[in-house]
Amino acid sequence: MQTSEIVILTGAGVSAESGLSTFRDKGGVWSQVRLEDVATPQAFMRDPVRVHDFYNSRRGRLPTVMPNPAHEAIARLQRGFAGRVTLITQNVDDLHERGGSPDVIHMHGQLNHALCAGCGHQWGWQGSMSTGDVCAACGAQGTVRPDVVWFGEMPYHMDLIAERMAGCDLFVAIGTSGAVYPAAGFVAGAREQGARTIEINLEPSENTALFDEQRLGRASETVPQWVDSVLK
Ligand code: OAD
Repeated sequence: MQTSEIVILTGAGVSAESGLSTFRDKGGVWSQVRLEDVATPQAFMRDPVRVHDFYNSRRGRLPTVMPNPAHEAIARLQRGFAGRVTLITQNVDDLHERGGSPDVIHMHGQLNHALCAGCGHQWGWQGSMSTGDVCAACGAQGTVRPDVVWFGEMPYHMDLIAERMAGCDLFVAIGTSGAVYPAAGFVAGAREQGARTIEINLEPSENTALFDEQRLGRASETVPQWVDSVLK
């Protein structure tokens, strides 16, 4: 059967070779800081300065890194594939956009966006964020937070994702450990509806058994190879 609807899910592994840390690999983000201290709404209420410091440092890294051949190959597929390619990322960086992707669903939010915890307004943000910042819509102070999804919060765009997943005949997970739900559950849903599933990762992920095919290695090499095989 010919593939007409591809859904790609990416995780931190796709940006690793650009110089951004993954979360659960040796030396990853969660081995250096406890997620309970920086990535929950409770952490922000308890110690907003610490939470801002954590995300300011990650946002500050963005201008110093570049997209790698994996980002560029995904963008090439989105532009060149005859059917539809939906790109869902768990990453909060902007490397897919800078790699040329025309459409990116950021289910865990974006570092270069702000969210007002008071009124829900979302807007673009560059540079550091602090407790002294004021919401661009309601004018409240102290409610401005990074527009990233924290543990215990609902990821973004779940309706759109469900719609795209329902129509997909090929699901491909790239550079994600399969440890965080709901994203980790997408492969099971794809299988149930009869889609083919491919995992492209440095090593087998936590739910590797649910994939029909594994392509193991560095994303900068494996992703362009896979894209070439689809576009040939
Ligand atoms: P993880 O750090 O859990 O997993 C990254 C995966 O990428 C691992 O399976 C690595 O083997 C793989 N990897 C590392 N380098 C690679 C490379 N060069 N090429 C290919 N694969 C490579 O990151 P995620 O699965 O993205 O959420 O984590 C999911 C979520 O957990 C994140 O979005 C974040 C985190 O807590 C929130 O903060 C809400």
